[in-house]
Amino acid sequence: MRVLITKNYEEMSKKAADVVAELVNRMPKCVLGLATGSTPEGLYRELVRRHREEGLDFSMTTTFNLDEYYGLDVNHPQSYRYFMDTNLFNGINIEKKNTFVPDGKVPVKDIDMFCKEYEQKIKKAGGIDIQVLGIGGDGHIAFNEPGSSLTSRTRLVALTEQTIKDNSRFFKSDKEVPRYALSMGVGTILEAKELLVLATGEKKAEVVAKAIEGPITSSITASAIQMHPKVTVIIDEGAASRLSMAVFYRFAAEAEAKIGLKLF
Ligand code: F6R
Repeated sequence: MRVLITKNYEEMSKKAADVVAELVNRMPKCVLGLATGSTPEGLYRELVRRHREEGLDFSMTTTFNLDEYYGLDVNHPQSYRYFMDTNLFNGINIEKKNTFVPDGKVPVKDIDMFCKEYEQKIKKAGGIDIQVLGIGGDGHIAFNEPGSSLTSRTRLVALTEQTIKDNSRFFKSDKEVPRYALSMGVGTILEAKELLVLATGEKKAEVVAKAIEGPITSSITASAIQMHPKVTVIIDEGAASRLSMAVFYRFAAEAEAKIGLKLF
């Protein structure tokens, strides 16, 4: 696992944009797995800037988002579709028909079928080349809350009290936060060819340490990234502040720069 520690959020976002832009330039038809939330906002801002100022071209790119609140319409300002449109898709030259976010309004009876089809679409597109991930306060990736199977697939999930509380900052009150979501599973995420994990701020330090250095456990589904052979974690100093191996990660990052190869 590559663990890159940056001075601050801005540098984290730029380094993450380097990884994504390198892929998009090298493989214009690539498939990006995307996350929402506060963490990747800077990454998306930087990608929009590079598109506008440097011509970074997304015209042949396909994207799949990790999750969507169940019950929210695409036009709801807190829906993840709305987030992606406003934070990224409207600012770059991607074809909207090539952007996929689970449909939060799919009728209950059709959920199973919808989730199977979402996975099939990912496969048909050739699989996800790089999956961007944030980490939730309770250690989740996507909405795989503690106790989610590490082989789970796209499905309807219930959100924990902590996630509802954490995400209430975007809503008028806790009561308005949806209680369910459609989410890629941990197993789905681990099938991506590469993972790009981001975290910022001291608030995330403990959960980041558990995810990277703790035991692999369904209690912290982010710890499943340890089972993936190609993971880049980019975190700022705050989020890295509880890591016990930080000195080694910095050494490995310097070595990478000297050798000119990525040390996973
Ligand atoms: C969002 C997602 C979540 C978030 C996580 C962190 O699509 O899948 O797992 O990445 O909840 O959220 P922020 O970045 O808001 O702290």
